[in-house]
Amino acid sequence: MYICVCNAISERQVQEAIAQGAADLGDLQATLGVATCCGQCAQTATDYLPGGRYATVTAPSASVAPGQVVAAPMLDSTEIRRVA
Ligand code: FES
Repeated sequence: MYICVCNAISERQVQEAIAQGAADLGDLQATLGVATCCGQCAQTATDYLPGGRYATVTAPSASVAPGQVVAAPMLDSTEIRRVA
């Protein structure tokens, strides 16, 4: 699913950028270009940052064991993921 339609930036790209250290919207803008056009995606992108409503998607609990299947909240559906 696209988070930023203007720049064709997907949810997965946002999650990967955060996993690699993006800590705020400025970092996401610098690394991906998200929210650098119309800005309509800024709040949604921010929701994936630590403390945001979708933060668990990018930062699974340390108590999740490798190979354990967890349900990760998505914007409009639920995706089942296997933790590596
Ligand atoms: S949807 Fe992201 S800048 Fe327009």
